[in-house]
Amino acid sequence: MITFDNVEKRYSDGTVAVNGLSLEVPTGSLTVFVGPSGCGKTTSLRMINRMVEPTSGRVLVGGRDIRDEDPHLLRRGIGYVIQHAGLFPHRTVVDNVATVPRLLGATRKQARATAMDVLGRVGLGKELAQRYPAQLSGGQQQRVGVARALAADPPILLMDEPFSAVDPVVRKELQQELLRLQSELAKTIVLVTHDINEAITLGDRVAVLRPGGVLAQYATPEDLLTSPADEFVAGFLGVDRGVRLMSFFSSADLPLRQDPVVTGTGTEDLGGDRWILVVDEDSRPLGWRGARADSTIVPVGRPFVPGRDPLRVVLDAAVLSPSGHAVAVDDDGRVLGVVSGEDVAAAARSGHNGRAADAPRAVAMRKSP
Ligand SMILES: Nc1ncnc2c1ncn2[C@@H]1O[C@H](COP(=O)(O)OP(=O)(O)O)[C@@H](O)[C@H]1O
Ligand SMILES: [Mg+2]
Repeated sequence: MITFDNVEKRYSDGTVAVNGLSLEVPTGSLTVFVGPSGCGKTTSLRMINRMVEPTSGRVLVGGRDIRDEDPHLLRRGIGYVIQHAGLFPHRTVVDNVATVPRLLGATRKQARATAMDVLGRVGLGKELAQRYPAQLSGGQQQRVGVARALAADPPILLMDEPFSAVDPVVRKELQQELLRLQSELAKTIVLVTHDINEAITLGDRVAVLRPGGVLAQYATPEDLLTSPADEFVAGFLGVDRGVRLMSFFSSADLPLRQDPVVTGTGTEDLGGDRWILVVDEDSRPLGWRGARADSTIVPVGRPFVPGRDPLRVVLDAAVLSPSGHAVAVDDDGRVLGVVSGEDVAAAARSGHNGRAADAPRAVAMRKSP
């Protein structure tokens, strides 16, 4: 656990970068510090590894005041990743990563073996190991930066805007990669970003800082979206809180309908003015068609797997579907039924209201028959 206990940082020019910060970062969790530029995120982060010393208050790691720790020893247990990866330009990728194990006393051979192993973990192939940083894409460089921070297997990882300099597509990839890594490694991670969407995607808990270095709210992403503490937090979260909240709601209990599902691609007139989901003998979706004989088949788009995909994915699928319905499939891609956009919205409302009333975490209640 990392504890900030009423921490203040006033720089020598009088700037108060961090003001009365008290919070706890649980061991094994990914905590995000988010806020606009200049609100004290980097300063707060650097107080954890003593690159910056607080003016007053205490920072504790594992219950121990880090002022009493040797900074070098402290930093051995704390990996640090920065925006432009901070790689040594004249060392190969593998040697960049091997640097820390070497410093910690590993032989050259051991250090390289460790480096190759962590490079693999962050999704970089062996063929890149002998390149120099300038011969990599921005996203690959960031991965090397993460690999280097992980090479000494530190229990704590500090990441300062690690993905801010790469394009949005690579950024999403790196975010997913980090979540996958974290599910294996369960490090105590503190990640700084100015991007609230990144914070919501990555954080187990999110600390929103406001200008002046004051903590505005410290909560789970879901709680932030449900009940922002004030206008500043609500404004920072943006206008589509409701839809984003749906990322946290399960699709497990949505009411699935069978009646529009038919087998075979026949062109017979099925009567009425409705959409019909056509499936093959194996129950795999072939597409939507109108009921009239002359209608053509339209692809179903992305089906969802109840319980695996969040409600937001289902709503998206329903909105994009010509029929206004999303298609539910099992793990093997066989159709389980369809659900209307209205039913998704109703499930989201009952989930949200259930939450607001402090109901159990189970959400997306079944519509009454
Ligand atoms: N070394 C420094 N000396 C004086 N002021 C600083 C120093 N580092 C940061 N600041 C100021 O402290 C405030 C917080 O900075 P910082 O922690 O870098 O914010 P963030 O990472 O949220 O953008 C800003 O007003 C910044 O200008
Ligand atoms: Mg910063």
